[in-house]
Amino acid sequence: MTGASAGAPVRPPAALSRTGARVERQPLARFTTLGVGGEAEVWFVGTHEQLAEAMEQPYRVLGGGSNLVIADEGVPERVIRLSGPFAERDLELDPALSAGDGVVTGWVGGGVPLPGLLRALQKLGLSNLEGTVGIPAQVGGAVWMNAGTRYGEMFDGLHTIEIVTPAGVRQVTPDDLNWGYRNSGIPRNHVVTQVRLKLRRSTPEAVLERMEHADVARKGQPKMKTPGCAFKNPRTPEFPDGVSAGRLIDQAGLKGTRVGNAMISPDHANFIVNLGGATAADVHALLHLIRERVGVAMELEYELWPEQALSAPERA
Ligand code: FAD
Ligand code: EPU
Repeated sequence: MTGASAGAPVRPPAALSRTGARVERQPLARFTTLGVGGEAEVWFVGTHEQLAEAMEQPYRVLGGGSNLVIADEGVPERVIRLSGPFAERDLELDPALSAGDGVVTGWVGGGVPLPGLLRALQKLGLSNLEGTVGIPAQVGGAVWMNAGTRYGEMFDGLHTIEIVTPAGVRQVTPDDLNWGYRNSGIPRNHVVTQVRLKLRRSTPEAVLERMEHADVARKGQPKMKTPGCAFKNPRTPEFPDGVSAGRLIDQAGLKGTRVGNAMISPDHANFIVNLGGATAADVHALLHLIRERVGVAMELEYELWPEQALSAPERA
């Protein structure tokens, strides 16, 4: 007798890799804000040595999982998750790099959750990143996407970025990168392991006020399982200053449209929400439908794992 009840899922226990990384087969749904995604081998890495070992085979990098639509079959590659020291932060100001109002912190790990970091910076009265309030990312994922809002973005507060690839470790500054709206210029699978933040001395009260101001823009966003906005706001000759993709999808009359258990949010049309039990295919079908019905070219903001063309809606 093993003691396992009939039909209970049998999961192999976590193993340690050669360099001590924890390796576990896990359903990826539990790491995503959409709550969708099948299994993969997850490598929890906390040192450069462990990361180098994880990169010996094809891999993907998982941050806070807040921009991902992962297939129900999972992915065949290793999935790297920063943990241990890569999920820690040192907010001591570096005297050698700080001058006057401009201050630079110690290293902040790429696996640090952004919301907690912002709360800590607010208490210290350190400003520059408060425009990113409400983004449920990890620091590495937020840097990789240059996540932001109209009140500010990650690149407002970066001094140095450490990037690891199978070829080695290097440190860059924002000036070295071709960054812009929702784009850091850092190639895919180049891992942001840690950053130094470039901040401005302010007061806890003033930082809190700016955070609350930026947060007001989230009032209309759904509080359900979602990966945030599906499409980037397009800039076209018709809309040279950009236009809300949400407004365009809304104007196409698509709010509340369902495929299976996924829905275009009735609150904000650029959010796809999981009503419970949605599949990746449901979400793909809605994305396809939006592309088809909105007559403006829009770049997908969600990332599909694995990468694929959007399937035609079958049940819309
Ligand atoms: P993931 O979703 O895990 O991954 C996204 C991409 O980043 C993948 O390519 C992944 O490989 C890569 N990546 C992750 N970690 C690293 C790393 N350490 N190094 C290199 N690459 C990495 N976004 C905005 O910009 N503005 C918003 O206002 C906003 N609001 C949101 C609100 C909600 C409720 C939700 C669910 C999402 C929202 N988003 C917003 C989207 C999302 O939070 C951002 O795209 C964020 O940058 C994703 O970061 P992540 O750590 O979750 O990355
Ligand atoms: N609007 C509609 N219908 C909708 C949604 C929006 O008419 O269904 C209108 C609003 O009434 C408003 C305008 O469109 O007049 C702009 O809407 P909103 O303020 O919600 O901003 P957005 O451009 O739709 C952007 C970001 C969000 C970010 C908010 C707040 C993109 C793709 N979206 O949304 O980022 O949180 O501003 O700053 O840039 C994300 O990237 O995942 C994300 C959530």
